Amino acid sequence: MVVNLVQERLGASSMAEQVLRTIGPVVLLGPPGAGKGTQSKRITEHYHIPQVSTGDLLREHVRQQTPLGIEVQAVIARGELVPDHLVCDIVAWRLRQPDADRGFILDGFPRTQKQAAWLDSFLKFEFFETGKWASWLPIVIRIQVDYNKLLLRITGRRTCPTCGAIYNVHSNPPLVDEICDKDGTKLVIRDDDRDEVIRERLDTYERQTKPVAEYYDKLGRLVTINGDQSVDDVSAAILKEIDGRACGVASGTEVKGN
Ligand code: AP5
Ligand code: MG
Ligand code: ZN
Repeated sequence: MVVNLVQERLGASSMAEQVLRTIGPVVLLGPPGAGKGTQSKRITEHYHIPQVSTGDLLREHVRQQTPLGIEVQAVIARGELVPDHLVCDIVAWRLRQPDADRGFILDGFPRTQKQAAWLDSFLKFEFFETGKWASWLPIVIRIQVDYNKLLLRITGRRTCPTCGAIYNVHSNPPLVDEICDKDGTKLVIRDDDRDEVIRERLDTYERQTKPVAEYYDKLGRLVTINGDQSVDDVSAAILKEIDGRACGVASGTEVKGN
């Protein structure tokens, strides 16, 4: 089921985990098409910590037509947000998997102020007060990209239903048209990547998720990165931020919990 699929996809990262350092929680914020998924995969490869994409997890539930998937299908198709309590339950389950012990990248979560407040207390109780980590404060990175470029990126996106690889017909095409380079699967267009739904998703971001960035900004925890650069340059900027702030690294203001 969903559990098996997640474990299968993350199994390769189990090697040498013992000797790798704790990174802690990393949150990637940004509008649809900003590059959260693309960058998460690179961070995963670099630090061997899992990508936790609420969008991917929800889509997997829909694909498998679980009770949750059936419940949220129409909401996702309209480009609206799934109710907070449902998403928080999925995230809690995912972050309790053993591969998240050294840290994780939250891709697409939190997206409302309620989710952000829930995450703060979850991280505090589950990772800090249990003595697992020196801090529970996430590194929050916002990837910023101009509205019109987002539209082009989303309409050009193709994804692999087998391995989750993300392509773009304009900026990052596969070697063979519509076929995944890694496993030969036919690429697909996401159901919510239709014009009218894309606009609703962008509006939802403005209304409900921008305040999350403001919440972290007020707490002095927000770092904004220019996402309108090459994928490599965006990755380099993100890795630099994470290297300087990772949980347990004795520098910066985010080391100690309070
Ligand atoms: P989700 O799956 O999270 O979608 P999203 O936020 O709309 O973001 P996208 O996945 O569209 O974009 P991305 O930033 O990952 O960009 P990508 O790397 O693919 O959520 C989907 C739905 O699920 C929501 O609408 C909601 O209904 C529900 N949901 C999810 N989380 C929820 C939550 N927390 N609460 C409630 N509901 C929730 O890149 C885009 C394209 O650009 C690709 O083609 C890529 O190749 C290309 N690209 C990337 N970087 C660059 C670059 N630097 N230069 C040029 N092209 C680039
Ligand atoms: Mg994504
Ligand atoms: Zn693939």
